[in-house]
Amino acid sequence: MKLFHRGCFTCCEILMVSIFLFACNTTQTDSDTIEKRINSILSEMSLEEKIGQTAQRGTSSRVKNGITDEIKEAVRQGKIGSFLNVMNKEDVDELQRIAIEESPHGIPLIFGRDVIHGFKTIFPIPLGLAATWNPLIVEQGSRISAVEASTYGIRWTFAPMLDIARDPRWGRIAESPGEDPYLASVMARAYIKGFQGDDLSSSTSIAACAKHFAAYGAAEGGRDYNTVIMSEQELRDVYLAPFQAAEEAGAATYMTSFNEINGVPSSGNGFLLKTVLRNEWGFDGFVVSDWNSVTEMIAHGYCTDEKDAARRAASAGLDMEMMSTSYEKYLKDLIDEGKFSVAQLDEMVRNILRVKFRLGLFDKPYMEHSHDEDMLSEQHLKAAKEGAIQSLVLLKNKDNVLPLSKSSNKIAVIGPLADAPHEQLGTWTFDGEAKDTQTPVSALRQYLGNEKVTFVPGMEFSRQTARNGFTEAIVAAKKADVVLFFGGEEAILSGEAHSRANINLPGAQEDLIMELAKTGKPVVLVIMAGRPLTLGNIINNADAILMAWHPGTMGGPAITDVLFGEASPGGRLPVTWPKSVGQIPIYYNHKNTGRPANEESFVQMDDIPVGAWQSSLGNTSHYLDLGFTPQFPFGYGLTYTSFDYKNIRLSKDSLAPGDSIEITAEITNTGNRAGTEIVQLYIRDLVGDITRPVRELKGFQRLLLQPGEKKMVNFILYPENLAFHNQAMERVTEPGKFKVWIGRNAMEGLESEFELVK
Ligand code: NOJ
Repeated sequence: MKLFHRGCFTCCEILMVSIFLFACNTTQTDSDTIEKRINSILSEMSLEEKIGQTAQRGTSSRVKNGITDEIKEAVRQGKIGSFLNVMNKEDVDELQRIAIEESPHGIPLIFGRDVIHGFKTIFPIPLGLAATWNPLIVEQGSRISAVEASTYGIRWTFAPMLDIARDPRWGRIAESPGEDPYLASVMARAYIKGFQGDDLSSSTSIAACAKHFAAYGAAEGGRDYNTVIMSEQELRDVYLAPFQAAEEAGAATYMTSFNEINGVPSSGNGFLLKTVLRNEWGFDGFVVSDWNSVTEMIAHGYCTDEKDAARRAASAGLDMEMMSTSYEKYLKDLIDEGKFSVAQLDEMVRNILRVKFRLGLFDKPYMEHSHDEDMLSEQHLKAAKEGAIQSLVLLKNKDNVLPLSKSSNKIAVIGPLADAPHEQLGTWTFDGEAKDTQTPVSALRQYLGNEKVTFVPGMEFSRQTARNGFTEAIVAAKKADVVLFFGGEEAILSGEAHSRANINLPGAQEDLIMELAKTGKPVVLVIMAGRPLTLGNIINNADAILMAWHPGTMGGPAITDVLFGEASPGGRLPVTWPKSVGQIPIYYNHKNTGRPANEESFVQMDDIPVGAWQSSLGNTSHYLDLGFTPQFPFGYGLTYTSFDYKNIRLSKDSLAPGDSIEITAEITNTGNRAGTEIVQLYIRDLVGDITRPVRELKGFQRLLLQPGEKKMVNFILYPENLAFHNQAMERVTEPGKFKVWIGRNAMEGLESEFELVK
C-alpha cells in the first residue's frame, strides 16, 4: 500500500497503516505469498478465463431462484467471476462448487449483495446512523450485518455509501453519511471496520465496497444520476475525503458512480480510478462498476458503442463490470486489435484475485452455518434498538412536553407510519422483513398496556390525499391527553431514483396535523423519512418534533423509550435542515461571499415599500422571503436536559509545523436529568489561497453528564488537520489566522482563535 501522496507522511497515516494491516490480518509475508499464488494462477489462465473474472452476473434483488443451466455452464468454463443477489443458499453452494471443482483453475466466485444498513436485523438508514455521531454504533451495526449476511454466502457488501449529500431532494441522501466530510470520514472507517472485522478471511467478515466513486451526491438539482460539475479542489477536499478515509481503513473494493464529473463519467474516469485511487492513495483491491454503468457511458455521450465503452472503462482502471457485458463481448477483440493489452487485463484480474485471496475464498470457499442462529438474535435486536435510539433527533420540545409520563393516561396514536412495519425499514432493505419489525403501535401497547393506547391511523399511507379518516382521528385526539402523530415518507419515497422536487410531508398529512392541533391537545410529531422534510406551518403547530429517519426493525421500541424518557434522544443532524426547497443547496460549510448575510441588512420582502428605489448598497446574500438561516443547523439536536458551555481555552496561541494545539472547554449539565451532549469542534481558516468555508467540523465528542456534573472536553489539532488544496492543486497548510469554536451545533459555540505559523 502506497501511503505517500502529495504532502507529508503523518502520524495519522502511520496509525492507519497499522489499522489496515490489522484489519486485513495481512503480514508482508502473507502479501508476498498471495502475490506469488496470483502470478502462478495468472500464468496458467486463458484469455477467456481472465475476462471471465471481470464479469459480474446476477439477478434483480427480488429473484430468489434464477440460476439457469446456461449460467452454470458459464461458471464451469470460468466465464464469470462474481454474482450479485443470489439469495438461495443451495444456489450459492452449487455455483461455488462448480467454480471450485469444475472450472479450469478452481477460482472461487465472490457473491455480493446490497447489505446497506442491516441484513435481517435492520438498523436505521445510513443518514440516521450518521445522526448518531457515534462510530461505535455504526461499527457494531455493520459487524452484525456481516455476521448475518455471511450465513447466506455473501462475502461482499455494496456498502458503505460515502456520498456527501447536500441536497435533500436527492433520494439517495437516505443512504449517505450526510453533508460533512469529517463526519462522513469517521463513519467510513467505522463501517469498514465493522464489515471487514479484524480478519477479512474470517467466515463472518465481508468485503466492503466504498461507493459511489465519486461525487454522485452532487447531482445537479438533486435529480438522481444527474450531471456533476465541480472544481477539483472541492472534489478532493469535500467529496473524496470519506473515500480516502475508507482506503486508509482498508476498504477491499470500490464502486464507480453513475454520474459524470466535468464531462467524464466515473466508470471511464482514469483520473479518479488511476491517478487518485491507485497512484495517490495506493489502493490495491478492485473496482466494480455500478449496474450497467459501463454501457451507460454511451447514453452519456462519452462512448460510441459497447466496444468503445469497454475500452474506455478498462483503460480507465475499472476492474469488474456489473451486469452489462461489454468486457465479455469486446475485451478480446480490443486486445487483438492492440487497443488494450494483456498486461492491462492481468492487472485487473490480479486486483480481483487479491481480494478473493484476502477473503480466504481460495482456502474456504463455502459458507459456514455455525452462526445461523445469530440471525435476529436478542443481541442483534438490542444493538438495532440502541442504534435507533441514538439516531433520534429531537427538533422541538415546547414546554418540555417530552418526555411523557408513563402514568399519563390516554394516548391517541395517529398517522400513516404508526403501524407500517415495511415502511419504517427504509430504503435498500432487501432482506429485512415486515414480520420481524416492531412498530410504534405494538411497542406503545406493550409499554403502556392496550387500554391506554387508541390507534386511529387517520390515513392509510403517507401519500394519501383522501380525508375520510380525519373525523375518527380527531375524535380520538379529543378524548386523549396527548396525540402522537407518526408521519413522514414511505420507504419508497427515498433511495435510488426517488428524488423529490418538493420535500414536504406528502399527501394530506399536513392538513391532518393542523386539524389535530386545533383540538388543543399536545401534538407530538414523530417523523419517519429518508431525508429532512420542509415542515412549513407544522413547525409552529406541533408541540414536539422527533426526527426518527427510517429507524429499522426496532424503531417502535426505540421511539417508545425516548418518548417516555426511558432513554434520551441521542441524535444530532448530519445535514442542514432547510425551511424550503428554494434554499437548497444549503449546507453549513459554505463559503462566505463578498457580501455575507447578516441580520442588520436583511429586510423581509413584505417590509419593502412598493415602488422602493433599487440600490445595491448594503445588500447581502440572502433570500427576500426566507432570509439566510436554515430551519435547523447541521449538528443540531435537543436533549431532555440542558448544557452550559464555558471557558474555551487554547494551549497556545500559535501552531507551528510538527506541533499540535489543545482546545478545551467546560461543559456542565445544568438540567435535572442525565444526558449525552455531542460537543463539536469547528474551525475557520480566515484567508486562503482558495477561499475557505465559514466553518469546518474538525472533531466531536460524546459526553455523558449526570445532573450538575461538569466535564472538560479537549480536542487536539495538528497542522495537517487544517490542510486543503490550493490553486496549484497542492495539499497545503497555509500560515495565517484561524477561528475556533466549541459548540453544540454549526451555528453556536464558544469562540477563540489561533495562528498557524511557518
Ligand atoms: C445500483 C446502485 O446504484 C448501487 O448502489 C447498488 O449497489 C447496485 N445497483 C447493486 O444493487
